[in-house]
Amino acid sequence: MPRTLDPELRRELAARIRYYNEMGIYDFYRRPANTPETEMVANGDEQAAPVATASADPESPVFHSSIPQPEPREEMSRPKAAFASAPVAVEDNMFDMIAAKPEQSVSDPVKALRIIREDLGDCTRCPLHKQGRKQIVFGVGNPKAELMFVGEGPGADEDEQGEPFVGRAGQLLNNMIKAMGLQRTQVYIANVVKCRPPGNRTPEREECETCSPFLMRQIAVIKPKVVVALGAVAAKTLLAMSSSMAQLRGRFYDFKPAGVRASDPDWQGCKLAVTYHPAFLLRDPRQKGEAWKDLQMVMKELGLQATAGR
Ligand code: URA
Repeated sequence: MPRTLDPELRRELAARIRYYNEMGIYDFYRRPANTPETEMVANGDEQAAPVATASADPESPVFHSSIPQPEPREEMSRPKAAFASAPVAVEDNMFDMIAAKPEQSVSDPVKALRIIREDLGDCTRCPLHKQGRKQIVFGVGNPKAELMFVGEGPGADEDEQGEPFVGRAGQLLNNMIKAMGLQRTQVYIANVVKCRPPGNRTPEREECETCSPFLMRQIAVIKPKVVVALGAVAAKTLLAMSSSMAQLRGRFYDFKPAGVRASDPDWQGCKLAVTYHPAFLLRDPRQKGEAWKDLQMVMKELGLQATAGR
């Protein structure tokens, strides 16, 4: 019978698993112990620091949106990820997190994403399911996108329409995508949490941790070249780092979705960049120039040309 883990222990285990995954270790086994407990065993050593660099020229911002939106939450406090220091007892669903996923045997990303969506089901895994959500907002776009954007969670418009970034922040994101020389249909867009937090509050850490494995699986299926984390919630969830936005922006991170193997064993992961959330840019348009620098860094990586006359 699985026991419920202490949330702190669960976090430490998740961080430990991420750490092993980053080193390419995915296979864990349960060692029968003298006690009824189960132990998680794997080999590993110190965590590698994220690698990165890239610079951007200081060209001015070009994406426009006229209507401010009261939504930006650029900073989110999050205790830094800790590592368990010894093999520990673990409940069954922690093993679910690291077990092979059904979509891994499917090469068609459309089908693979469908499998993840079906697995998500009519989700009741976190409190958001009973806090007024109308529907789950899974993600939208090209299942083979080279560029993927990750936001925080659906707002009222997204909850209504079942699609991420369709409100005012979405209009600005569309303009950002256009300015990069792309169309919305060419990229993939998803959120850390797939249900609307009531009153557009910032999702709780537990909500992010419960929902983000589905995002990780989406990324592993899509295998983008670059993921852009929009805002602090996305950045901190994906990177498991608690630094400020100022510290997180302006560089690339080597990124592999935690806890999952890509369906393609040749996919070595991708680059991840952090920029401001469009809702934050609506509130503070002076930061658009900084965001444009982040996007130019991404464009350079992807060989994209900015749209003329943006
Ligand atoms: N903000 C987000 O983070 N995601 C959305 O889908 C819409 C607004």
